[in-house]
Amino acid sequence: MKFFVDTAEIKDIRDLYETGLLDGVTTNPSLVAKSGRNFKEVIREICEIVPGPVSAEVAATDHAGMVAEGEHLAKIADNVVIKLPLTFEGLRACRHFSQKGIKTNVTLCFSANQALLAAKVGATYISPFIGRLDDINLEGMQLIRDIRQIYDNYNFSTEILAASIRSANHVTEAALAGADVATIPPAVIYKLADHPLTKSGLEQFVKDWKSTGQSIL
Ligand code: E4P
Repeated sequence: MKFFVDTAEIKDIRDLYETGLLDGVTTNPSLVAKSGRNFKEVIREICEIVPGPVSAEVAATDHAGMVAEGEHLAKIADNVVIKLPLTFEGLRACRHFSQKGIKTNVTLCFSANQALLAAKVGATYISPFIGRLDDINLEGMQLIRDIRQIYDNYNFSTEILAASIRSANHVTEAALAGADVATIPPAVIYKLADHPLTKSGLEQFVKDWKSTGQSIL
């Protein structure tokens, strides 16, 4: 499973990239607003740090506007992926970019039918939002399973990018459901390494090692 980090914070991206765990980055307008940075500058900087796919979302909601903005964003770097909303206008723009060989990430997906449409217009990634479905008492993870089955039934090459991940459990469940990618907030990526038995076990080993009075070097 590929790991993308879901943030526009340069320091977090740099730190995580150095761990070797990071395959790409996703951003959205809310994350850019939170960073307080200039959007295009941030995308340029991220693309200099991470060679993998970096999703940059259009702001327009009409087809012509999305195409114009996407064309502009695609020129920032070769690894920019144009992020488009799952509306009919967004799907038309997605088809435009797929035909030109420009990678796309169709976002704000909340149903299997939406994911089917995105695959049919050649989206590189589909982003089902797990956490936001859980927020309204629906089972976000079931959507990942349904999309996996539909894409496998028809050999669609669109990758399932599990988004709106809120917990370490979401990551495990998305991996079990066969998501190709998970885009994860930085804090949740760090939590993936945590286990209380690892913590207590290490504390005991450190204590016992000290009692031997030895040193390895
Ligand atoms: C995905 O690309 C989105 O940026 C993100 O995962 C949304 O997550 P949220 O629902 O926690 O805002």
